[in-house]
Amino acid sequence: MTRDKVSIHGAWASRWVFILAATGSAVGLGNIWKFPYMTGMYGGGAFVIMYLVCIFLVGLPIMLAETLIGRRGRQSPVNSLKSLALEAGASPKWSWAALMGMVAALLILSFYSVVAGWSLDYIISMGRGTFDGISAEGAGAAFGALTSDPWRLTLWHSLFMLLTGFVIARGVVAGLERGLRIMMPLLFVLLLVLLGYSMTTGHFMQGFHFLFDFQPDRLLDGVLAAMGHAFFTLSVGVGSIMVYGAYMPRQASIGATVLTVGVLDTLVALTAGLALFPIVFAGGLEPSAGPGLMFVTLPVAFGNIAFGQLMGTVFFILVLIAAWTSSISMLEPAVAYLVERTQRSRAFVTSVLALLCWLVGMGTVLSFNVAADAKFFVFAEDGFRLFQWGAEGGRNFFDSIDYLTSRILLPLGGLAFVLFAGWVLQRETVRDELALRHPRLFPWVYWAMRVVAPLGVLIVFVAELVK
Ligand code: PHE
Repeated sequence: MTRDKVSIHGAWASRWVFILAATGSAVGLGNIWKFPYMTGMYGGGAFVIMYLVCIFLVGLPIMLAETLIGRRGRQSPVNSLKSLALEAGASPKWSWAALMGMVAALLILSFYSVVAGWSLDYIISMGRGTFDGISAEGAGAAFGALTSDPWRLTLWHSLFMLLTGFVIARGVVAGLERGLRIMMPLLFVLLLVLLGYSMTTGHFMQGFHFLFDFQPDRLLDGVLAAMGHAFFTLSVGVGSIMVYGAYMPRQASIGATVLTVGVLDTLVALTAGLALFPIVFAGGLEPSAGPGLMFVTLPVAFGNIAFGQLMGTVFFILVLIAAWTSSISMLEPAVAYLVERTQRSRAFVTSVLALLCWLVGMGTVLSFNVAADAKFFVFAEDGFRLFQWGAEGGRNFFDSIDYLTSRILLPLGGLAFVLFAGWVLQRETVRDELALRHPRLFPWVYWAMRVVAPLGVLIVFVAELVK
């Protein structure tokens, strides 16, 4: 019987551990590093609103779909989809969506590891007191010095990839639980401390307005960016949540669980935004500075408060751990799949995959310095070119991978997963697996999965094309 399948990769001890693991996956650089800088680049309030709408109308239904597919299938995403499709009399080709997700997750890991490496570097600088009393300008220069040094970046990137591989090789279930219990609450407390500092800058309200003022005319500017980021921050569309769902105990209600994860993730992102922007404005920095935003603003904050050296060090350690618990979930779908498929050991499979991601990640390392002029996806006046050295427009390697994954692969993967749960699985299967605490809500939730979320993805794609 389907109901009693068990996963060969382990199982979470309880619903709470799943919540911790899924929150560990969701909360990461996406919340603390990416959300603020994307908000800055797309003009503030309009982006934030689209992001919130996408989280609740599109992201959460997809997260539900992924969790229930995983728990029903009890295998890696590819094999769960394959076996559930066959059971339902549908084409096993549905599993291709999971295959695509798996590749997307590995691509994300390649650049994620580089950025997580920055926080390793910052732990050291913070600890040494390098940022004591630093100005916004000085912090900008320090960040520039880091990204322009390929060797330093390679060192930290390699170290982070090793850390990720280490936990995966031992098995996620054993490795994650202990760390998460302590780290998640602590991260939140330190964010609140930062928020407290922001309030003393005298620019708190400016930051607040920047984040929440509604500008109707800018709503369409970053819709696709906002939706892509909603997928990224919730870890959906790639199979990470699905694979964690496969390790979830049978009796837990998926609905409440997923809502908890979504709300926690959103709270962390908004707190990070509220904490950062006042510092940006107080330091006369540009909100649209891009990927360096957090790495330039935080040293200014920590460099100028009492106990800043200590708090800053702890903060970057927490960022590192948050990134770590996310990166683990990027690797797990592929590792679980290859273990099932090749019967090789976890350690072996992990080493091969981590090495591959590391290599691709080197492209990102170099895109910040020696290969900054290598441009992909160039739309020039005389036509489109996939690659051109030194082109005016176009995206460097890091931007290209980020674009390809967040804006294209994640939404497509999520769309496939939610369509599968909504239209291929039987209604009774979905109802039974979701086990909502308030069964009367089921028709609404089911409708969100069948209609609202898929339509949301399609509308955003179309809006992006016509805007
Ligand atoms: N959600 C993670 C973050 O916000 C990133 C992530 C994306 C994790 C995709 C897993 C899969 O940092």
